[in-house]
Amino acid sequence: MTQRIAVLLSGRGSNFQSLLNASAAGLLGGNIDLVISNRPGAGGLNIAHDAGIETALIDHQNYPTREAFDRDLAGVLDSRSPDLVVLAGFMRILTADFVERFAGRLLNIHPSLLPLYAGLNTHQRALDNGDTHAGATVHYVTGELDGGPPVLQARVPIEPGDDARTLAARVLAVEHQIYPVAVNWHMTGRLTLIDGTLRKDDVALPATGHLWEEPL
Ligand code: GAR
Repeated sequence: MTQRIAVLLSGRGSNFQSLLNASAAGLLGGNIDLVISNRPGAGGLNIAHDAGIETALIDHQNYPTREAFDRDLAGVLDSRSPDLVVLAGFMRILTADFVERFAGRLLNIHPSLLPLYAGLNTHQRALDNGDTHAGATVHYVTGELDGGPPVLQARVPIEPGDDARTLAARVLAVEHQIYPVAVNWHMTGRLTLIDGTLRKDDVALPATGHLWEEPL
């Protein structure tokens, strides 16, 4: 049976687009059949409409609490029984209950070399610290913000003259490469997460996740 992927997003949806491209090429190991946004104007919703994918808008501004929002979000997801929930620029902190409910089938991409720079403004913080490299990390989501086990990480150099915008663009390009690969690994059963230890093909992954060098 075809495996089902739900995507949660808040913005333009370029990572969602890269996942869609991989799916069309038969490289994702499943079908994206639901896209949910917490923001009415999210560009990712238009991409989904154009691709004929079902969408749902769950505007967090209509909810009095984070718990109430997450309950509705979980309800919509549960009604579709996704094999994987992919956070693709979903700019909400999820409650412990939500994370627990989708544990082991909830992936996020974060624009830094985790464990460096959890949270926001990752590129500016890397520049301010004089780092020589930046990057992106795909990780399973746990109750700790941007702290779940990394699956795949890509590094890019920080060039002289970079600002947060130029660096973000360089990082985004590798995000588009690594996210479909990590999703494929999950969908094809190559990843196992037991008692907090993440293995790919039965080999424990390093604390950074697999380091991306070449297309795999
Ligand atoms: C991406 O850079 C993603 O890594 C980041 O938001 C951007 C979404 O872009 N996610 C986070 O910062 C999550 N904390 P997109 O909408 O074009 O995919």
